[in-house]
Amino acid sequence: MAAPAKVPALLDLTIDNITPNTNRINSQCQDQRLKYLMSRLVTHLHDFARETRLSSDEWMAALNFLVGCGQISNDVRHEFILLSDILGLSLLVDSINHPKPPSSTEGSVLGPFHTHDAPTLPNGSKMASDPEGEPLLCICTVKDTAGRPVAGVKIDIWETDSSGHYDVQHSNREEPSERCVMVSDSEGRFWFTGIKPVSYPIPHDGPVGKLLERLGRHPWRPAHLHFMFEKENWDHLITALYMRGDPYETSDAVFGVKKSLIVDLDKVDAATAKEYDFTEGGHLLKHDFVLTTKEETEKLRDENAVKALAELGLRMKLVDHLPVPELD
Ligand code: BEZ
Ligand code: FE
Repeated sequence: MAAPAKVPALLDLTIDNITPNTNRINSQCQDQRLKYLMSRLVTHLHDFARETRLSSDEWMAALNFLVGCGQISNDVRHEFILLSDILGLSLLVDSINHPKPPSSTEGSVLGPFHTHDAPTLPNGSKMASDPEGEPLLCICTVKDTAGRPVAGVKIDIWETDSSGHYDVQHSNREEPSERCVMVSDSEGRFWFTGIKPVSYPIPHDGPVGKLLERLGRHPWRPAHLHFMFEKENWDHLITALYMRGDPYETSDAVFGVKKSLIVDLDKVDAATAKEYDFTEGGHLLKHDFVLTTKEETEKLRDENAVKALAELGLRMKLVDHLPVPELD
């Protein structure tokens, strides 16, 4: 074990020396990555307070805000995820961790409504039980960046009911609905019947909703369908497809929309209706998803990290694909 860093006696701390001294005492940490994360966090937090001349009341209001986020959270209500989402942090972290070559499907925000109890259904199943929803036939494929089908991918799919609520938002939820897991077949295909997605507001009856209001922002998300793709050796893809023309397309409260993820719905023609046992003239969504391998993503992520750190003038090395200072 390395000898503990020499730390100063913590006396007479001032606006000007509190930051290096906090970092110095934390530098006893043996975990290089944690030490680096904490040193940047402390530095940015302290600079924030100095730059804004943060008042004691504002500091306490912020702490109470965080307490409120904790108090309203439970197994199905994740206020801190919402906070991260409306601050643009979720999208930023996903973009850093899952960079995409141009031909592959881009990621989007996970949100707080994915669950682990969705039933695994065979191709062609109905995953939505809401009788008020407009049926939507989804015919999809999963391919690699060279256009080859990827079989055996586990795909989690979830959406709201026609009232804009996820099943977990109903207090009388007995079983999962408007969600399922499918597995791509030997030709990389999966297909199912859902309902036409609707726009809905993110939960805004808590601290995050109040913050949005103070910021003059609305809580709405454009209509979308969530997808999560998992297969060993393939980059985990969390994404969503957004319905073109939604009134919130360009002002999503959580910054999840990307041009490449906006889709047009079609009408089911007679042949497709027959083949998929669906109503002719009903809504049709056809989409080809493109996955990248873990190796492809890791390589791109490392290259991006090295470039970004060099641009920031930081002397860093990557350990387990994460930056730590070159010289300690
Ligand atoms: C969602 O799309 O399910 C979602 C994403 C972020 C915050 C709230 C909901
Ligand atoms: Fe959603």
